[in-house]
Amino acid sequence: MTANALQDNHNLWTAYEAAAATGGALCARGGDPKEWAAEDWSASGVSIDTRSLKPGEIFVALRDARDGHEFLKNAFDAGAAAALVARAPEDAPEGAPLLVVPDTLQGLRDLALAARLRNFGKRVGVTGSAGKTSTKEILRAILGASGNVHAPDRSLNNQWGVPLTLARMPMRADYGVFEIGMSRAGEITPLTALVRPHAAIVTTVAAAHLEFFDSIEGIAEAKAEIFSGLAPGGIAILPFDNAYYALLKKRAEEAGAAGFVTFGEKDGADIQLLDYQPDGAGARLTASFNGERRTFSAGVPGKHQALNILAALAAADAVGADFDAGINALALLQPAEGRGARIAIKVGGGEAILIDESYNANPASMTAAISLLAAAPTGDGGRRIAVLGDMLELGPDAPALHAALAKTLVAAKVDRVYAAGELMRHLWDALPPAMRGLYAGSAVGLVGPVCDVVAPGDVVMVKGSNASNVSAVTRALAAGDEASAGATEK
Ligand SMILES: Nc1ncnc2c1ncn2[C@@H]1O[C@H](COP(=O)(O)OP(=O)(O)O)[C@@H](O)[C@H]1O
Ligand SMILES: [Mg+2]
Repeated sequence: MTANALQDNHNLWTAYEAAAATGGALCARGGDPKEWAAEDWSASGVSIDTRSLKPGEIFVALRDARDGHEFLKNAFDAGAAAALVARAPEDAPEGAPLLVVPDTLQGLRDLALAARLRNFGKRVGVTGSAGKTSTKEILRAILGASGNVHAPDRSLNNQWGVPLTLARMPMRADYGVFEIGMSRAGEITPLTALVRPHAAIVTTVAAAHLEFFDSIEGIAEAKAEIFSGLAPGGIAILPFDNAYYALLKKRAEEAGAAGFVTFGEKDGADIQLLDYQPDGAGARLTASFNGERRTFSAGVPGKHQALNILAALAAADAVGADFDAGINALALLQPAEGRGARIAIKVGGGEAILIDESYNANPASMTAAISLLAAAPTGDGGRRIAVLGDMLELGPDAPALHAALAKTLVAAKVDRVYAAGELMRHLWDALPPAMRGLYAGSAVGLVGPVCDVVAPGDVVMVKGSNASNVSAVTRALAAGDEASAGATEK
């Protein structure tokens, strides 16, 4: 079976199964079901957002900034099969099938738990300061060579996204892949308890979300929470080179992990990256797997992605997937939008390369992206240009962390830096004058100048936190003009 076989999923939840899972009451608003039968529906999926709800899905009315109960009409207009609600608002369509529970988030968690208990596949949980989504996609490819994989399409990694992903897991999925994120201590514990991974990966620990932490050690402790949910016999997969490796390992031991696999570049890692060579849009990797040396191609560039790949291979092995088939699948990987995708762009009579890293940024991923730029071959007379927006949510160290990039950029022999945002001012001031392209208060101010300066043969890497809006620059470069720069953020 192929991974796509899972998309044909008409009977994900019948009314009775959903009611049994949640302990909720099946009813129809108004008591006189016309078009719908209150107890005779089945749903092909689960949604918490009426804007992306597909016909046939259960709509879960959660309370966030707004109350999902206000959107019941939209949900049924969009074709919802039923709604999981805590009350039936006046404007809910007459006769609409409802599943009523005291608390809808708990209802979603109950669906998630039931989905897990009725599935006999293996689950992998991924956390880390960077690389969660990348590793999830790598796992989708590797595990997809051995069976049906269920994984979220987007970065669904928080208190809603994780139960939602699990509630969507088909009964016959062979593997489930879960991205588990956090912005505060204590958030991962209930999520990993719900997922109960057979293999849990910490990709890396680095400065990110420092606003809610006093130290990076605090972040390491919070990431290590993932091990508390390991299924019996579960394996911890640990970043050997990381400064907090010992701490992570200790926490995994305390949590009762049945085994450990380490990945990294340093001698002593169980899975060690021995050689990394950029190769076209991807890379050629040589790694030692417990002493066995293998060389293989990967479709995604960057040493950071190579390390994500090694972590994913360790997890795939831990859950019994076919190792060789997994390695072969790596050659077909494609970088995701905003995460290292390479795009050939047309500029004044020739071509330049855009490395689109605009999806997000923190010091670890920024350093990784700068090394991607350093390793990218330029054309005749081409230059390496970095277009950088603020790295947000870094707390009081933010100015110093921005200024520190100057050294990294110099070491990487980047030719020109374009910087935008209040925090990037600190980098700008620290840069050698010869490297300075232009500074602007906001990313929009860089769009025109960057489009003008890029010449045939150049390689341009664009990166910043999502809210820094540097994606305006990638959109304009990719479109070959400034026309698309005003489009809304992705
Ligand atoms: N292991 C890693 N170490 C450092 N940076 C990484 C790593 N993996 C991915 N990145 C970079 O971090 C950014 C976010 O990647 P992503 O996989 O979306 O992470 P997350 O889901 O954890 O936010 C991208 O720019 C990506 O290239
Ligand atoms: Mg993510």
